[in-house]
Amino acid sequence: MKEKRQQSEPILVHACQNTDEANGHLPRIMALTGFMGSGKTSVGRTLATMLGCAFLDLDKEIEKAAGKSIPCIFREDGEKAFRKLEISTLQKILKSGGREISSEGGENRGSGEGSWDLVLSLGGGTVLKSKARALLEGRCKIIYLKASPETLLSHLSEEAEGRPLLAGHDLSIRIGTLLPKRDAIYSKVADIIVDTDGKSIKETAEYIIGL
Ligand code: S3P
Repeated sequence: MKEKRQQSEPILVHACQNTDEANGHLPRIMALTGFMGSGKTSVGRTLATMLGCAFLDLDKEIEKAAGKSIPCIFREDGEKAFRKLEISTLQKILKSGGREISSEGGENRGSGEGSWDLVLSLGGGTVLKSKARALLEGRCKIIYLKASPETLLSHLSEEAEGRPLLAGHDLSIRIGTLLPKRDAIYSKVADIIVDTDGKSIKETAEYIIGL
């Protein structure tokens, strides 16, 4: 278990933008990053349920905004358009703390009484963009769900076709090419690095809650 740095509270910077902020309550957001297949969505959803807070999956929100699936966005509009939409959707979520979005059908609206208001699962490529890192850093507690190439391969072997960056590739080679570069970025942006190898979704969520 590798832990980078632990903060008891996220550092919150940003000018007041909504009523909660004006009341001194900026939504507290935990953001999960990591490679495709690292369990960001499953762990995020479980974590939010355990914390009694709202949950949003950035990919799902992008699909809602575009009115089509991610493979469809990549196919019809290209990766560049997808990345633009990814940033603008992230901006909207961070601005509202997910409130407007989750009230329109996001999962687990949460009671708002706990330590966290929102768990947000990012896409595997979100933090590769410096603009996304600038939006997230200092605003969210960023958790990197770190997994070995073997673990990722076993998670992704059934699901690669729904992921445009993996579809049609030899999975093992693709992970071997993309993971080293991405691992360095995930590790750098994260407040906390959680080694997920050998842990179930529930165990990973429990570990994060226990930090
Ligand atoms: C991507 C990861 C995907 C999705 C898109 C691009 C990436 O999300 O955002 O296909 O660049 O790693 P998941 O990590 O949830 O699969």
